[in-house]
Amino acid sequence: MRYALFLILGLRTFLPLVLAQLPLPQPPFLPPDASSGAKTSSGALPNRQWSTLLGNLLYFYEAQRTGQLPSSNRVSWRNSSVVDDGKSAGLDLSGGYFDAGDFIKATFPLSFTLMSVCWGAMDYGKGYDMANQTAYLDDMLRWGLDWLMKAHPNESTLYVLVGSTDTDNSYWGGDQNIPTPRPVYQINDTHPGTDAAAGAAAAFAACSGLYYNKGFKNDTFSTPAQLKNTTYADTLLTHARDLYTFAVNATNGRKTYQTSVPEVAAGYGSSDYGDEMAIAALFLSWATDSPSLYAEAEGYWQKYKLAQQTRVFNWDSKAPGLPVLFAQIADSSSTIGGNFTAWQIQAEKYFDDIVNNDGPGYLTDDGLLFYDGDSDSASLNPALNAAMLLSRFAPMASSTDKRSSYTTFSKLQLDYALGNNSMSVPYIVGSNPNSPSNPHSAMASGGNDISQIDNDPEEMAYTLFGAVVGGPHKSGKFYDIRSDWPETEIALDYNAPMLTLTAMHVISDSSDPFYTSLKAGAYEKVKPQGLPCDPVFPKACVGPQLSKGGKIAMALVLAITGLIIIGLSVWYFILAGRRVVALKSSS
Ligand SMILES: *[C@@H]1O[C@H](CO)[C@@H](O)[C@H](O)[C@H]1NC(C)=O
Ligand SMILES: *[C@@H]1O[C@H](CO)[C@@H](O)[C@H](O)[C@H]1NC(C)=O
Ligand SMILES: *[C@@H]1O[C@H](CO)[C@@H](O)[C@H](O)[C@H]1NC(C)=O
Ligand SMILES: *[C@@H]1O[C@H](CO)[C@@H](O)[C@H](O)[C@H]1NC(C)=O
Ligand SMILES: *[C@@H]1O[C@H](CO)[C@@H](O)[C@H](O)[C@H]1NC(C)=O
Ligand SMILES: *[C@@H]1O[C@H](CO)[C@@H](O)[C@H](O)[C@H]1NC(C)=O
Ligand SMILES: *[C@@H]1O[C@H](CO)[C@@H](O)[C@H](O)[C@H]1NC(C)=O
Ligand SMILES: *[C@@H]1O[C@H](CO)[C@@H](O)[C@H](O)[C@H]1NC(C)=O
Ligand SMILES: *[C@@H]1O[C@H](CO)[C@@H](O)[C@H](O)[C@H]1NC(C)=O
Repeated sequence: MRYALFLILGLRTFLPLVLAQLPLPQPPFLPPDASSGAKTSSGALPNRQWSTLLGNLLYFYEAQRTGQLPSSNRVSWRNSSVVDDGKSAGLDLSGGYFDAGDFIKATFPLSFTLMSVCWGAMDYGKGYDMANQTAYLDDMLRWGLDWLMKAHPNESTLYVLVGSTDTDNSYWGGDQNIPTPRPVYQINDTHPGTDAAAGAAAAFAACSGLYYNKGFKNDTFSTPAQLKNTTYADTLLTHARDLYTFAVNATNGRKTYQTSVPEVAAGYGSSDYGDEMAIAALFLSWATDSPSLYAEAEGYWQKYKLAQQTRVFNWDSKAPGLPVLFAQIADSSSTIGGNFTAWQIQAEKYFDDIVNNDGPGYLTDDGLLFYDGDSDSASLNPALNAAMLLSRFAPMASSTDKRSSYTTFSKLQLDYALGNNSMSVPYIVGSNPNSPSNPHSAMASGGNDISQIDNDPEEMAYTLFGAVVGGPHKSGKFYDIRSDWPETEIALDYNAPMLTLTAMHVISDSSDPFYTSLKAGAYEKVKPQGLPCDPVFPKACVGPQLSKGGKIAMALVLAITGLIIIGLSVWYFILAGRRVVALKSSS
């Protein structure tokens, strides 16, 4: 008996504890070679290029997995890693995802990513079904959610960071030599973090809605991805409720989580918590058909003056997404109620400013929606999140004019990211021959010398298929340099809006994504020389910023001026000499 139990426990440590519940396709979906992204496909639905892109975007998350990898692992160059995470605190915090190009696990941006993906899989879920990607979606979500449950061992404890940003930033290498010990950091009743707790509550609530198969109004949105599982949804909902209570009612009040855990400030400090409280309450109201939680969310909108937060939608700032979700729920559920018109007006204020260039964001000369500050460290993310919200809201707009201007603007931003830019680069690794080839990812690089990050090895060891990179410089120039994290880093939250937009296109767009029209070698022809002016290369910001052509022109002008001066002096001295000679001879 004891022996048997021992055997079972022994087996459990060898077998993956987390398994996708939906059967994974056999043979598995694997990203095709980047060259396939240069071929046009037939105009049927689903378009093969869009469904492949959806598959690649999900595959990226599999490459970011940590912990004991299951036998179904598709990323051949990945190994199980840091399986002892949490042991120092007496619990199992292995699993989940590495946040970006390095090796920390960060709860706050992970929660945002899961929330965003689940929201998108509720309203454009049919795209996952049509592309045969729903089992991978289930797998991807559970890998994150199951870890988030482990990070929430009781009502008012949530682990918010695993690994240290300090050690991590000095380690560049594979998944086998990750520096240990890996510290773990928690928030709790005496050291609360309202934003982190509410952010995780929002992820659990949004995903419980998806696992309950709760669809928004079906003449406006598609059915949710078909992965209904009420048992799992109930579990998620329990975590959502507990975390929401912890966020709202922590004994030691409401505060940002870096107040309690200063170690998170460097990477993912939060600016405030009202937006997370509102979106947690709102997704809870949707998951549970609760008019009172909807009213609570409206209360936070007022109390924390969220209407004034008119900048970007991202891991730190959820406010711009709220009017969209308030409107979506009001439009879809008669039980919950809600004043659709009021939220429609609120949402349109924000979107009109974007499409009319009246808000804090503006279009760069290259055509990218840009927010000084937010866009400087990852230029595509604000633009893609805006595109995602615009597309989602467009069918709920008050006029056909607005509907079409929102849709057009959104499509232009998406196309920009897919290659309609002055660099001819689709900013997704492995999607086309012009895609970035040096994403800032220690694991995929195959290198282990941080001082030689850009050229050891010369070519990345592995292709990180499906990873959306930070994006070009404000000028539109893209420097495909591994160490240049603002432009080439990859991250969990960068892929999220692209997934939702792609699922939407799988459903209804029979024409190819923009990149199939790019010419081979297009980027090589226009690739900028030198270094970008950004925090990684501050020296490149000093002095006049001349392009290679500019430098040649400047050199020519200088050379010609010099020649003219020399010529004139020679001529002068010869003349003067002659004059002296003449004077001498005349005297
Ligand atoms: C999805 O799977 C079905 C059944 O195997 C197959 O006929 C179809 O071509 C697949 N579609 C895509 C986009 O992979
Ligand atoms: C909650 O979990 C943490 C971590 O396991 C533990 O330190 C703490 O004592 C627990 N609190 C309660 C009230 O169970
Ligand atoms: C996984 O292990 C293999 C074999 O040791 C190694 O070649 C590979 O580079 C490792 N992968 C990573 C991401 O470190
Ligand atoms: C509560 O969290 C703080 C900040 O992370 C930590 O210092 C403290 O030890 C935690 N309390 C308990 C009982 O674990
Ligand atoms: C859409 O929803 C309506 C009302 O809830 C329902 O009667 C109808 O059957 C649904 N249509 C589809 C295609 O699911
Ligand atoms: C639903 O999810 C639960 C919890 O993960 C799992 O045990 C169960 O097998 C799933 N059911 C189905 C039908 O997939
Ligand atoms: C917070 O505490 C108050 C007062 O005890 C209670 O009425 C309320 O339901 C709690 N809120 C949540 C979300 O648990
Ligand atoms: C809904 O909001 C609109 C716009 O603010 C307002 O005119 C209308 O009276 C509201 N309806 C209800 C039932 O409160
Ligand atoms: C590409 O971008 C240009 C400039 O922003 C725009 O005029 C054109 O319509 C775009 N083409 C597509 C297919 O999006």
